[in-house]
Amino acid sequence: MSFDRIAKIYDKFMKWRDPEPLARYLRLKKNQKLLDVGGGTGVLSHRISPDVIIVDESIGMLKRAMSNGVKYPVRGLAEYLPIKSGSMDRVLCTDALHHFSDPETAIKEMKRVLRDDGIIVLEELDPERLFVRIVVGLVERLFFSNSTLFSRDELQKIAGEDIEFHPYTRVSYIALLKK
Ligand SMILES: C[S@@+](CC[C@H](N)C(=O)[O-])C[C@H]1O[C@@H](n2cnc3c(N)ncnc32)[C@H](O)[C@@H]1O
Repeated sequence: MSFDRIAKIYDKFMKWRDPEPLARYLRLKKNQKLLDVGGGTGVLSHRISPDVIIVDESIGMLKRAMSNGVKYPVRGLAEYLPIKSGSMDRVLCTDALHHFSDPETAIKEMKRVLRDDGIIVLEELDPERLFVRIVVGLVERLFFSNSTLFSRDELQKIAGEDIEFHPYTRVSYIALLKK
C-alpha cells in the first residue's frame, strides 16, 4: 500500500514520538543542512529543523509535509537520492528504512550525500521486542507487504561496523552511523 492513502491521518497516529532524543543525537548546528530520507509528513523532522529537506516517494505525504510548514519537500527515492554528494551535514531516517525496497542501497545513498564529518541518525522498529514482533510487525505486514524489520545485528550487517545503538521509544531504537 502506498502511503498516499494514509497521508491525511498519518500524523494523528504518529505525532506521539518525541523529537528531542533524535535532535540530541543529530547535534545540528545553526546553518547546517538536515536531510530526512523517507521523511513523509515531516511530523518529527520539522520539529527538529524548520529548514529540513524531505525526500519521499509519496506525493500525498509530501503534501501533508507542506501543510506542516516543510519548506523543502522533494519527491524521490531513497535508493537514488536526488541530492548532491557530500552536501548534507546530517541525515535522518525514521521508521522508514524497513519500507524501502532496497535498504542497503538506501544506506549507501545516505552516506554518499553526507559530508565526511556528518552523522546519520536512523530510527527503526525493534523486532526484538515481543510487542513489535507480534502486533506492530503483523500490522506492518498486513498493510505494507514489503516491510521487513531489522534487528540491531541485521542492521549492522547492511550498514557496516561503525554503528552505535541507543534506546528510543518502547518499540524502536536509534542507530548512529558515520560515513
Ligand atoms: C512510516 S513512514 C515514516 C515517515 C517519517 N519518516 C516518520 O517517521 O514519520 C515511511 C515513509 O517512507 C516513504 N517511502 C517508502 N519507500 C520509499 C522509498 N523507496 N524512497 C523514498 N521514500 C519511501 C513512504 O512514502 C513514507 O512516507
